[in-house]
Formats: sequence, structure tokens, C-alpha cells
Amino acid sequence: MDTAFKEQMDSYCAAFKGVLAQYLQSVHFRPDILDESMRYSLENGGKRLRPALMFAVARMLGSRIEDVAQFALALEMIHTYSLIHDDLPAMDNDDYRRGKPSNHRVFGEGQAILAGDALLNDAYRICFEECAKGKTYIAAAAVLCRNAGPDGMIAGQAADLYYQGRAGAGKREAEFIVLHKTAKMIRSAAVIPAVVADMDENIVALLDEFGRNFGILFQLTDDMLDVTGDFAKLGKTIGKDAAENKLSYVQLYGMEECAAIADHALEVCEHILGELPFDTDFLLSLARYVRGRES
Ligand code: IPE
Ligand code: IPE
Ligand code: MG
Ligand code: MG
Ligand code: MG
Repeated sequence: MDTAFKEQMDSYCAAFKGVLAQYLQSVHFRPDILDESMRYSLENGGKRLRPALMFAVARMLGSRIEDVAQFALALEMIHTYSLIHDDLPAMDNDDYRRGKPSNHRVFGEGQAILAGDALLNDAYRICFEECAKGKTYIAAAAVLCRNAGPDGMIAGQAADLYYQGRAGAGKREAEFIVLHKTAKMIRSAAVIPAVVADMDENIVALLDEFGRNFGILFQLTDDMLDVTGDFAKLGKTIGKDAAENKLSYVQLYGMEECAAIADHALEVCEHILGELPFDTDFLLSLARYVRGRES
């Protein structure tokens, strides 16, 4: 990883850490177990890729990180809730997340469901408060909401479960899963800064298309790491997709073709960045980093 990229990435992650710390200082929920279970999953271990992407796009457009900080927080809270629920026995039945026992393994299934619900609801409370800042913030909140909901991440999770081990499910269904469960949330991170800044719709569309391909790239590397990854780096159990009979790109295409599809998604990302009238160096490095990631 080149040093300039790493330093920039670290600074976005540090900025997000500050935003999260401020939020965690401002709330204390009762009973204590609810507060603890929310903090347990929010505080540690995540790569913070979506907030970093959102901050990077904001800076690229000439905006301030503070302009989108609360949306980055809400997005990461929704992402974290989706992981808590994703790990439940009724879904992927995963015992580890972010290098630690999954939320339900520590707090029990009922509390884990509620921790997820709580993160989702408080994320929307934060969005509502942002809406007071003006029309572009209302539009940005709507993007976040739509991409997380039944036409977004939740649709992808529903399809992921439905097609698990189901005969006749193939490429179309696998693509639907990736585009919804993963790419939609990443699209939010890419477009929200442009929506907040009231950018030209052409710019919003290019960023949305970048997010879509970045999302494909991200999920395909996740699928491949489920085979070749290292628990110590990834922080989650390896080999779960095959064990659970998931309709992943690796199961469907095999490792080699999956890698070629990921390479193609990276090329599309590079092409889209070339169309943007901004300094896209960091986003280019970020997409290349995701292609080679180990965690
Ligand atoms: C995991 O996302 C879920 C997928 C969409 C593959 P991340 O790999 O970004 O998880 P954290 O936030 O770093 O734990
Ligand atoms: C989950 O996809 C995507 C979510 C919306 C949570 P996966 O089930 O592949 O994510 P991991 O591998 O458990 O992180
Ligand atoms: Mg899953
Ligand atoms: Mg999972
Ligand atoms: Mg996975």
C-alpha cells in the first residue's frame, strides 16, 4: 500500500473515530445491556470503509468532512446492525465478527436482534436531525433510507437467504444479491456527499455508478476471502459460504472467473473515475486496495 494513500485512509478513519466517539458520549441507553450490546458492535474492529469512502468523496468535491459526518455515522450504524443480524443463527449463523465473538454469542439472540433494531432506529433519528439543515440533507437522508431498505440492502439479504441451497438459482440471482446486499450501501457512501453539496445530476449519476461497481468489487473480494482469507486478518470464520451453501460468486463461477469479474469491476471503477472532473487519485487507490485486500 503506498504511504500517501495509507496516511489519507488513516486520517479518514481517525476522523470517523472522532465522530463515533462524540455520538457514544452523547447517548446512554437503558437497560445497560442494550447500551453495552450496541457499543460492543459499534466500537471495535470494523474497517470503516463506508465512512472513509464518504469522507473521501466529500473532500474530492471540495466539501468538508463535517458536512457529511452525521450521514457517515448513520450509514455505519445501519451497516453494523446489518452485520449483527447477518450473523444470527437464523441467518448466516456466524460465531465471529470483527475479530470477536458475534453480538448474539455475547448478549444472546434476543438482545442481538434488539441491538440491531436500536442502531437502525437511532441512525434514522440522526438523519431526521440532519434534515433540519435544508433540502439537500433531506434528499441525502432519502438516499440512505432507500438504499438500506426493502429496495436495497434488505432485499439483498432476503434474496441471499432465499436462494441459499435452492435449485435453479444462478447468475441473475447472484447478481441481484450482490447489487443489493452490498452495493446499495456503498452507493449511498459515494453519492451522499454530492447530494448534500447539490451537485449536478451528471456527477451524482457517475458517483452512483462508481459505487455500484465498487460494491461488486467489494463483495466479490469478500466471497473470495471466504475461501482464501486468514481468520486473524479477516476477523470472521473462513469457509462459511460453502458450508452454508450460499449462492456466492465463488460457488457459481469458481475462484478464477470470480477474480476476473472482480478485475473487470475494478476496470469499470477506473474508467468512471476518469470521467469525473476532480482529483480522483485517492478513490483510484482505494478501489485498487479493495481488489487486493486481505481484511
Ligand atoms: C462486511 O462488510 C459485509 C459485506 C458487505 C461483505 P465489511 O467487510 O465492510 O465489514 P467491517 O465493517 O469491516 O466489519
Ligand atoms: C453480508 O454479506 C452483507 C450484509 C448486508 C451484512 P455476507 O454474509 O457475505 O457478509 P459476511 O461475510 O458475513 O461479512
Ligand atoms: Mg450474509
Ligand atoms: Mg454473513
Ligand atoms: Mg461474506
